[in-house]
Amino acid sequence: MIEIREIEEDDLIPLFDIEQISFKNSYRISTLADMYGNSSYEFLGIFNRNRMAGYIILLDSIDVYEVIKIAISPNYRGKGLGKKLLSFVLGDLDKNLILEVRVSNDPAIKLYEDLGFEKINIRKGYYGDTGEDGIVYLFTNENK
Ligand SMILES: CC(C)(COP(=O)(O)OP(=O)(O)OC[C@H]1O[C@@H](n2cnc3c(N)ncnc32)[C@H](O)[C@@H]1OP(=O)(O)O)[C@@H](O)C(=O)NCCC(=O)NCCS
Repeated sequence: MIEIREIEEDDLIPLFDIEQISFKNSYRISTLADMYGNSSYEFLGIFNRNRMAGYIILLDSIDVYEVIKIAISPNYRGKGLGKKLLSFVLGDLDKNLILEVRVSNDPAIKLYEDLGFEKINIRKGYYGDTGEDGIVYLFTNENK
C-alpha cells in the first residue's frame, strides 16, 4: 500500500539513507534535522507498507515554493512513485513552484517536463563538483 504523508522525526534516518545514495552533494543529517525543525521547510514522504520509498523537501520562500530535494530509493525508481509524490504536491499548491536540476539528470528532467514544468533559465556551470549547468524549472500554479 502506497501512502504519502508528512515526515515524522523517526523518519529522518531512512530519509538520510536515501539522501546519501541519491546525491553526490548530500546533506548531513544535522543539516536535515535543522531544516526539519524550521517551519519554512516542508518534508513529505512516500511509503510502501510503512517503509520509506522516497521524500520531497520544499522551501516556502514567501512568494514561491522551491523543491530543495526529491529522491526515490534506487530499488523503487522507475515505478511511478516520483511522479506520484510530485503530482501530490502540485495538486495542493497555492503558489508557483521552482526547482533546479543538473542538465545530465535525464530521469528528473523527464519527470518535470511530463508534469508541466517549464524551463525558465540555465545557470551556466552552476554545479561546482562537475562544472555542469543547472536548469531552472517553473510550475505555474494557474496551469493546474
Ligand atoms: C528523479 C527521480 C526522483 C524520479 O523518480 P522515479 O520514481 O524513478 O520516477 P517515475 O517512476 O515516477 O518516473 C517519472 C518519469 O520519469 C521517467 N524516467 C524514470 N526513470 C527514468 C530513467 N532512468 N531514464 C529516463 N527517464 C526516466 C519515466 O519516463 C517516467 O515517465 P513515464 O511515467 O511517462 O514513464 C529518481 O530518479 C531519483 O530519486 N533520482 C535521484 C535523485 C535525483 O536526481 N533527484 C532529482 C534532483 S533535481
